[in-house]
Amino acid sequence: MDLNERIPNNVNLSEDKRLQRALEKWLPNFLAWWHDMGPEGFQEKDVWLRTAIDVGSEGWAHFDYVKMPEYRWGIFLEPAEPNAKVGFGDNFGAPAYQEVPGEFRNALRRIIVTQGDTEPASVEQQRRLGSTCPSLYDLRNLFQVNVEEGRHLWAMVYLLHAYFGRDGRDEADALLERRSGNPDKPRILEAFNQPCDDWLNFYAFTMFTDRDGKYQLSALAESGFEPLARTCRFMLTEEAHHMFVGETGVGRVVQRACELMRQHKTDDVRPHGGIDLRMLQRYLNFHYAVSLDLFGSEISTNAANFYTMGLKGRFEETKKDDDHQLKTATYTVTGLDGDRLVTREEPALPSLNERLRDDYIADCQRGVDRWNRIIREHGIDVELRLPHRAFHRAIGAFSEVRVSPDGRVLSQAEWDAGKSRWLPTDEDEAFIESLMKPVIEPGKFASWIAPPARGINGRPVDFDYVRSA
Ligand SMILES: [Fe+2]
Ligand SMILES: [Fe+2]
Repeated sequence: MDLNERIPNNVNLSEDKRLQRALEKWLPNFLAWWHDMGPEGFQEKDVWLRTAIDVGSEGWAHFDYVKMPEYRWGIFLEPAEPNAKVGFGDNFGAPAYQEVPGEFRNALRRIIVTQGDTEPASVEQQRRLGSTCPSLYDLRNLFQVNVEEGRHLWAMVYLLHAYFGRDGRDEADALLERRSGNPDKPRILEAFNQPCDDWLNFYAFTMFTDRDGKYQLSALAESGFEPLARTCRFMLTEEAHHMFVGETGVGRVVQRACELMRQHKTDDVRPHGGIDLRMLQRYLNFHYAVSLDLFGSEISTNAANFYTMGLKGRFEETKKDDDHQLKTATYTVTGLDGDRLVTREEPALPSLNERLRDDYIADCQRGVDRWNRIIREHGIDVELRLPHRAFHRAIGAFSEVRVSPDGRVLSQAEWDAGKSRWLPTDEDEAFIESLMKPVIEPGKFASWIAPPARGINGRPVDFDYVRSA
């Protein structure tokens, strides 16, 4: 098998023997990890998957039946821009970094490792979902997300091997050694240590947590370290599908709930095999809050440093009409004053996490608006809402207080009294679990979710997306 078959790439791997050897050594370890920690079962099935074979908006992906262990995890970077410049920070306007600047080496490695760690982590979290899929269409989407998170791991490992020498190799190995939820060697970020064992959690995760990924990648796609920027730009094209899976997944749950509400003239659709909108709201609350935490503290010297170093920019940095240095700029940040929520003008640089979180929140809201449109179209007077940003936070200023979804600071007693209305309860989880029965006949769907509007890549909804070989 030639090199491009084993490791498809557009980085001239065959010209770089040292890198080629390093990646060829890492490959069997990756496959062993996939075997141990990738999706449980289905490894021998033919899955209708898209594989990245090139970059560019036209024809970058190829669709075909593939057995997951034979997926061609490749390394693709968006083409280099001629005369690329550092787009922000102290070195604004200087030529982009083509190698790792010595003084930024640790910061850059930390950024890459933290991003890289989330990719295999989510595969580990989702590994048991296959056995309870609501349809073959959804099963295929799960596996598509999983193999692409595997490719995203490859993308970060490529950077570590190609640009960081020995410590990069060690970090690449460690990415295969940590395990989601393992108390001794956990994944780096907390949201990636929670198991994702039911499909409602999966859709909420891909809606909210993969969307955090989109915003982190977008900020890194602006990086002055060009190989990282080009890598992340290409990852974003794949990431869009993950959020599509999440947003339309939740949307189909909403649609099914609405259909059952109208059919049975009741808000409580649980006896009819649906997920009622109140319960759905509790799941949204939970996943949204956990994902907000991923952006880090409101005020962060790391965020400021990553920016002044030219390593991690703002969302759509290049489109911003300012000095791209932000030394004297301010930014409005919500914080605590005693037990009151207040907004303050803070220096812009240390507020960059909050700014990225704001961009993320606006994007989430657009998704929620689309779900609410489905509800309105059914003539139902209910609205799903994003909870207040201070609700149920574990990181940052609001981790110290209890806040209701509508943004009131609560006493512990008030929180205890309201909690079961705001967050998934044991009863909710037991109910959701009771719904998790596999549906594997092509074109059939579980009782709690509506079919999608269309199939994948022009194939019909009842296509045999995962078939026995
Ligand atoms: Fe990813
Ligand atoms: Fe993703």
